[in-house]
Amino acid sequence: MHGIQSYIETHKDRFLNELLDLLKIPSVSADSAFIDDVFNTADVIKVRLLEAGCDHVEICETDGFPIVYGEKIIDASLPTVLVYGHYDVQPADPIELWDSPPYEPVIKPTELHPDGAIFARGACDDKGQMYMHVKALEFLTSTNQLPCNVKFMIEGEEEVGSVNLSTFVKNNRDKLKNDVILISDTGMIAKDVPSITTGLRGLSYVEVEVTGPNRDLHSGLYGGAVANPINILTKMIASLHDENNHITIPGFYDKVEELSDAERAEMAKAPFSLEKYKAALDIDAVYGEHGFTTNERNSIRPTLDVNGIWGGYIGEGAKTVIASQAFAKISMRLVPNQDWEEITQLFKTHFESIAPEGVKVKVIPHHGGQGYVTPIDSIGYQAASKAYQDTFGKTPIPQRSGGSIPIVALFEQELKSKTILMGFGLDSDAIHSPNEHFGLWNYYKGIETIPLFYKYFTELNS
Ligand code: BES
Ligand code: MN
Ligand code: MN
Repeated sequence: MHGIQSYIETHKDRFLNELLDLLKIPSVSADSAFIDDVFNTADVIKVRLLEAGCDHVEICETDGFPIVYGEKIIDASLPTVLVYGHYDVQPADPIELWDSPPYEPVIKPTELHPDGAIFARGACDDKGQMYMHVKALEFLTSTNQLPCNVKFMIEGEEEVGSVNLSTFVKNNRDKLKNDVILISDTGMIAKDVPSITTGLRGLSYVEVEVTGPNRDLHSGLYGGAVANPINILTKMIASLHDENNHITIPGFYDKVEELSDAERAEMAKAPFSLEKYKAALDIDAVYGEHGFTTNERNSIRPTLDVNGIWGGYIGEGAKTVIASQAFAKISMRLVPNQDWEEITQLFKTHFESIAPEGVKVKVIPHHGGQGYVTPIDSIGYQAASKAYQDTFGKTPIPQRSGGSIPIVALFEQELKSKTILMGFGLDSDAIHSPNEHFGLWNYYKGIETIPLFYKYFTELNS
């Protein structure tokens, strides 16, 4: 694209400072202590979209946090790209494990980011990656090179399940009409191994509650004579995997798509070092479903994980008690064709059925979403591939990711368009963890690559 490198070079300090300003606002959607900050972030994004050249920007109120919608329509006969991203972030907890405060961004080099990385909650997921698109638009409009129409839809509830976005999408099909959806909210294999995400896993998130006696009991007087909810809950959870680490819920695998040997061989070509993987996590062995590699286990296979478990006495010292109740939060990552509502129902039926006499079990579904796969022969994929070839000098590798962006399947269902996932983060960027960061190189590389997607997508469409 004419002049993109020199444009970035001229404006790079401002591009960085604008992102840092966004990162200073703690837009945590899950925690009501930050409600005002989440609303304020939406207002800032509105201003930035206008500055970047959108003709029209509005804050669309919902029952929860607003959606920022912006557009620049240059010619109704040209294709339209819809950019989606999110301005909300995960809670920063546990804050004491951060090396610097999560909302006071600092730039430090790391082994993988020798040019420096921005350390802050949301740096990679997703403020940094979302803002690359705003700056790509600024470049295209200010140099008069925008080749097609563009719409932005930036939401504030992604990290809590996009509850209100689905209603918004269903009610605004015309406004959101587009030829392709473009998202940077995933990762790439490595800085020298560009990749395009072609799959996302679905999700079913549930909470379970096991209730035994109607009050906490003295474990000497009652221990051994009544069901202990914590003992029972842990036993029930343990039974959800067999000795091969297969999930034991009847019907769970019925719709799982089995990849052919050829497809698995293709996947296995992606560069991966098990030794480095283990070393980075300080583990002496990997663990998972028998018969599958690590890369398969975290992308094409479904999983079931306890995300939190509590009950009984966890304060200082000892307390001999049998708790009346025990709880756990459980997430299941699903693969395409598994329906999240059906899986939630299978879980509920099974979990209730394995409860022994003497306890009551309750399963409370939270949220979920379908998985997603996109073909590599679409115009969108080809346009993205050409864009990466120009800026990385290599053809990107298609990669299925283990993470979830549940709304993507709904976009395809309601808006009938494919989503292209151009992620620029690295798995080691610690999204959702303490010390989340985003490489400066990745940030600027994203800004450099995105305009080329617009160019090639428009060319391939004509
Ligand atoms: N951006 C992530 C999803 C992601 C990250 C996909 C890296 C692929 C690679 C997104 O913000 C996220 O965290 N999604 C949640 C699901 C949501 C319903 C809370 C997830 O995957 O846990
Ligand atoms: Mn995200
Ligand atoms: Mn996230």
